[in-house]
Amino acid sequence: MPEPVLDKRLIAESFSRAAVTYDQAAALQRTVGSNLLERVPADSAPVDIIDLGCGTGYFSRALTARFQQPVIGLDLAEGMLRHARQLSPALPAWVAADAEALPLRSDSQDLIFSSLALQWCPDLSKALAEAWRVLRPGGCLAFNTLLEGSLHELRSAWRAVDDFVHVNRFMPLDELQAVLGTAGFADWRCEVEQHVLYYPRLGELTQELKSLGAHNVNPGRPGGLTGAARLRRLTAAYEDFRTADGLPASWQVAQVLMFKATDN
Ligand SMILES: C[S@@+](CC[C@H](N)C(=O)[O-])C[C@H]1O[C@@H](n2cnc3c(N)ncnc32)[C@H](O)[C@@H]1O
Repeated sequence: MPEPVLDKRLIAESFSRAAVTYDQAAALQRTVGSNLLERVPADSAPVDIIDLGCGTGYFSRALTARFQQPVIGLDLAEGMLRHARQLSPALPAWVAADAEALPLRSDSQDLIFSSLALQWCPDLSKALAEAWRVLRPGGCLAFNTLLEGSLHELRSAWRAVDDFVHVNRFMPLDELQAVLGTAGFADWRCEVEQHVLYYPRLGELTQELKSLGAHNVNPGRPGGLTGAARLRRLTAAYEDFRTADGLPASWQVAQVLMFKATDN
């Protein structure tokens, strides 16, 4: 079966709707983004910095604080950018942009930071090619992305209910590594982090995903509302995963650093 292609208009609308609720629901996003920021080499002193897929701008502000430079936030979702602008009026620019076609000059940036955004790109290699193009020689792309195995409990519980696509597809690690290896960067490293969050009830997990804008936008998604009977089957199937800590939701996160050669 061909891979479903994500619809960027639906992604942007979904994240725009979630702009106001995003920050309260974003505990995992904060952790993995902070872990990414810590990985950016301590001796780097970037001047031109972008936060790609900046969302509400939490890491745009963290980058500004760490590097003492104004950071430009870019995002596909206008609603996210509006919210980011309200939260950080001091930052110079919030730009509507697609990671696969950046409105930036070649060789113009020292650091591209991107936390949990690139898994929404239908073509990761296009986004990497764009990052490579806009980085200066010696520049760094620091990004993280979700890997296969993320939300496997939810995917499996839905399988007990129907054959629709309910959970976005995430790349297997070997596929990601192959894409990284052919992206033209002089040096790169990729480490995998595993996180498990626990919820008292399934409704709390699904509500959190909704608050984050992490909606199912696959072409194979079901239409209409989830009926009560199907929801009961889903809940029962998810209960098979229950532990003493609650219902688990697993996340596999690849933390990636890529460096453009200094002599391009
Ligand atoms: C999970 S949020 C992460 C936001 C922020 N980086 C953080 O860690 O809080 C993902 C963001 O990526 C944005 N996004 C999705 N696809 C994108 C694309 N092709 N280009 C730019 N941004 C995109 C979404 O609109 C959303 O704001």
